Amino acid sequence: MSVILGINTYHAGSSASVVIDGVPVVALPEERLNRVKYYAGFPKLSIAKCLEIAGLKFSDIDAVAVGRDSSANLHKKLEFALRHPTKLLNMARMRTKSKTFDDMKSLIVAECEVDHSILRFQSYNVEHHLAHTASAYFISEWDKCAGITIDGSGDFVSCMLSDCEGDEIRPLKKIFVPHSLGTLYTAVCQFIGYPKYGDEGKVMGLAPLGSDRYHDFFEDMLRKTADGFELNPDYFLPFGVNQGMEINDAGEMVVHRLYSDLFIKALGQPREKHGEITQRDEDVAFGLQRIFERYYMHMLDALHKHVPTERVAMAGGCALNSVANGKLLLETPFRETCIQPAAGDDGLAVGAALYVSNSILKEGKRWVMKDAYLGNEFSDSIVKAELDRYKISYQELSREQLLETTSEEIKNGNVVGWFQGRMEWGPRALGNRSILAHPGFPNMKEILNARIKHREPFRPFAPSVLQERQGELFEQDHPSPFMLHVYKIKPEWRERLSAVNHVDDTGRLQTVARDENPLYYDLIKTFETKTGIPVILNTSFNENEPIVCQPSEAIECFLRTKMDVLVIGSFFCKKDD
Ligand SMILES: [Fe+2]
Repeated sequence: MSVILGINTYHAGSSASVVIDGVPVVALPEERLNRVKYYAGFPKLSIAKCLEIAGLKFSDIDAVAVGRDSSANLHKKLEFALRHPTKLLNMARMRTKSKTFDDMKSLIVAECEVDHSILRFQSYNVEHHLAHTASAYFISEWDKCAGITIDGSGDFVSCMLSDCEGDEIRPLKKIFVPHSLGTLYTAVCQFIGYPKYGDEGKVMGLAPLGSDRYHDFFEDMLRKTADGFELNPDYFLPFGVNQGMEINDAGEMVVHRLYSDLFIKALGQPREKHGEITQRDEDVAFGLQRIFERYYMHMLDALHKHVPTERVAMAGGCALNSVANGKLLLETPFRETCIQPAAGDDGLAVGAALYVSNSILKEGKRWVMKDAYLGNEFSDSIVKAELDRYKISYQELSREQLLETTSEEIKNGNVVGWFQGRMEWGPRALGNRSILAHPGFPNMKEILNARIKHREPFRPFAPSVLQERQGELFEQDHPSPFMLHVYKIKPEWRERLSAVNHVDDTGRLQTVARDENPLYYDLIKTFETKTGIPVILNTSFNENEPIVCQPSEAIECFLRTKMDVLVIGSFFCKKDD
């Protein structure tokens, strides 16, 4: 038996996973446990929790796999430093720091307070983009496919094309920093008042409200190379070796200003963080998403020339761009995608471990990710004790009663907190830590925002749809089990799905198959029986914080907000009118 602990550390989305005999048994991002969004320090809580859930001790670990390798791409780092002599010292310092980070035994001893003598594992540093690719390819059901990773940067690379076959990932092409589609996206988000790490998804939602007014401005920002691209340096401040990102003392990612004064010259002053969103900002968001998609498809086309297949495995933060993912099935030769649900750097914990299992240890055991429920769960007795502790009145219901009562509440326009089973892996709530509502109830979007989510009014909510009905409601039928594709909603369904129908008549759907989440599937089915609509609105269970992880956080969110109902395990709680 082999036990591999996978880790992403000192990078955004700090996380841990345990892979036993090639099978991930648990995976957790640190942010859900320490409640610091995109935490970028050491994942000590998630390591401890993963081992506890897997029933293992530190002494049981055979291998630790980390999704970073400070010795990777050294020639490019050196080249960069020679071109920027002022950065040389900074780079030497970073390299020394990185080497300290690579001494995993000392780190675990210091951070997890364990005795060095009990640690017997072998350490493996897996290059960032290899770990990303592994996180997608080794969860797919394929033995051969093309692989692509696109992100801000990692180990000096922002994009990698590969040929994936059997237990090997063969890199074919790398785009080195500072050229990066992720950095470009972040820079423009920053300019229109979304400066925080992870705000990119909001701007993707804003884009359809704009027009192509800044076409030439964006065209001038990038140029194509044979099978790659380059950023025009005039539009950006020098990023440095870390692409303008830093980790502060609280373990949060801090993004320095990335855009140059050319932005201000062409577009005017940047929007203040809480300033009014103007037509200019909408048009900039549109221009950004358009140029991003153009180069996304360019890289996919280039990949297809190297690896002519219809299947592509994808990861990296940019692979969370669900709008581009929906279009790539129409605009590139690829017809099937396998995208890691934790496509951002949190996914490296699983990717690095699967890379070691498959490509280094050659365990030869392939695992297919059927669902993303790799997190922690809580028994009814724990939930009941927590409800009692908070002095909340509840009814304990049978499965059938639970489905009937909950679907009736949703049908009547009430907002339901739904906390069930194992937590989802990745940034999307997929029906286990979700807030649920009627997808076509009048003003439901406004109700959700006013009562709980407090999001910008332009941001869409997502539909969870029964798998077998997807093709009837949406114009594309490629499944999207991890909410990573946006498709057009068919005209005849748009009104009935008004709360999940975005301004451009699209929805970022979650395809729900019964074998992947029977309880959630049955809830949607019961709702469909009552309303004729095989869809429930699904948004993450949180209020401007990381998604709730444990019952107390769900209960507090229920009490703090104007949520009507909390369904937690077998317990049904409803606020008095
Ligand atoms: Fe990354």
